[in-house]
Amino acid sequence: MRIILFTGKGGVGKTTAAAGTATLAARRGQRTLVMSTDAAHSLGDAFGQRLGAEPTEIEPRLWVQQIDAQRRFERSWGEIQHYLMSVLDAAGVDPITAEELTVIPGAEEVLALLELRTHALSGRWDVIVVDCAPTAETLRLLALPEALGWYMTRVFPVERRVVKALKPVLSRAAGVPMPGDSVFDAVEGLHRDLQEVQEILSGPESTVRLVLTPETVVVAEARRSLTTLSLYGYRVDGVIANRVFPEDAGDAWREGWVLAQRRVLAEVGQSFAALPIWRSSYQPGEPVGPDALAGFADAAYDGADPLAVPAGAGPMTIARTEGGAVLRIDLPFATREDVDLARHGEELVVTVGSYRRLLSLPAALARHEVSGARVEDGSLQVRFRIVQAART
Ligand SMILES: Nc1ncnc2c1ncn2[C@@H]1O[C@H](COP(=O)(O)OP(=O)(O)O)[C@@H](O)[C@H]1O
Ligand SMILES: [Mg+2]
Repeated sequence: MRIILFTGKGGVGKTTAAAGTATLAARRGQRTLVMSTDAAHSLGDAFGQRLGAEPTEIEPRLWVQQIDAQRRFERSWGEIQHYLMSVLDAAGVDPITAEELTVIPGAEEVLALLELRTHALSGRWDVIVVDCAPTAETLRLLALPEALGWYMTRVFPVERRVVKALKPVLSRAAGVPMPGDSVFDAVEGLHRDLQEVQEILSGPESTVRLVLTPETVVVAEARRSLTTLSLYGYRVDGVIANRVFPEDAGDAWREGWVLAQRRVLAEVGQSFAALPIWRSSYQPGEPVGPDALAGFADAAYDGADPLAVPAGAGPMTIARTEGGAVLRIDLPFATREDVDLARHGEELVVTVGSYRRLLSLPAALARHEVSGARVEDGSLQVRFRIVQAART
């Protein structure tokens, strides 16, 4: 089963590209679901249809869903989140904690991930296309499972024990709130589910596509997204450059835009040299409805298979060396100054700009110590050395 996520700055054409790609997939015989995780639901507008919170089949094999932020869920998640914050605050836990918790997003995002999980495991679909929210929210969404995982392995077990021991004494005390078992079970269940989502999304058949328009500001954001997506282990498999003006400029105004876009497109070509760049022209009207959307996607992919699974390793690899190993994480565009690295026990903390990943070291690297690191050619390389047992 193929999963393709579309993200990019607001208004660049994410929904159009996602809807178009899904329509193409369905028309090529794939059982396709296109769902939106963006609170600004515009899939319905793009297809020119009224849609509900459940998947609706709008033509053979093409199903569309706009996830509705159910109040009920929002309430229960809000409770958990509020509770976590208050406990950590009261307990004065490791300073990294408060920072990490701020990446925990709101209810809609969690709900969207859980919905995606259900669909991915259902066996009902060959292709799932996800129309994501603008970049920053999508990154928060994709970082969520791991952030919660860190909390679950480091803080949660201790907390559960402490709460069990103290509850009889403290249940009425002011200050640290005492959650019931149901809160713990809910958090644990949520953690398991989100971990599964992360496994699915970082698997070889899941990819992210960056949608951009040929404007300097938009491209700068797309570059940062590529870095951050790689940091989190997600694989980007292409760029859609949308709203490209046709070359046959008619007047000075259009000529100006054509020239400006040409410059930026050249920069896009250089920046994303390792990826396919699909261009889509600025059309005289909005591509609305399945036919217009399929036309949009057909023209953009220009004969390339929109469902192709990219070859090559993902953004993170481990290579054995003599006496150790090298962990490589692709961080396109990152320089030494942007990257910060720390090791906390079994975790590697990699910070790039304002994004941080807490990477649980694979079992293969247990009993290794970090012996060096460098950032080179857009990738971080961390060298590990086997710790020699002391001789007696
Ligand atoms: N190539 C294009 N030519 C003309 N209109 C476009 C093109 N791409 C997108 N649009 C229109 O621009 C608006 C924003 O596109 P949309 O896909 O909703 O962006 P996003 O989901 O990134 O916010 C929509 O009205 C859409 O129909
Ligand atoms: Mg949109």
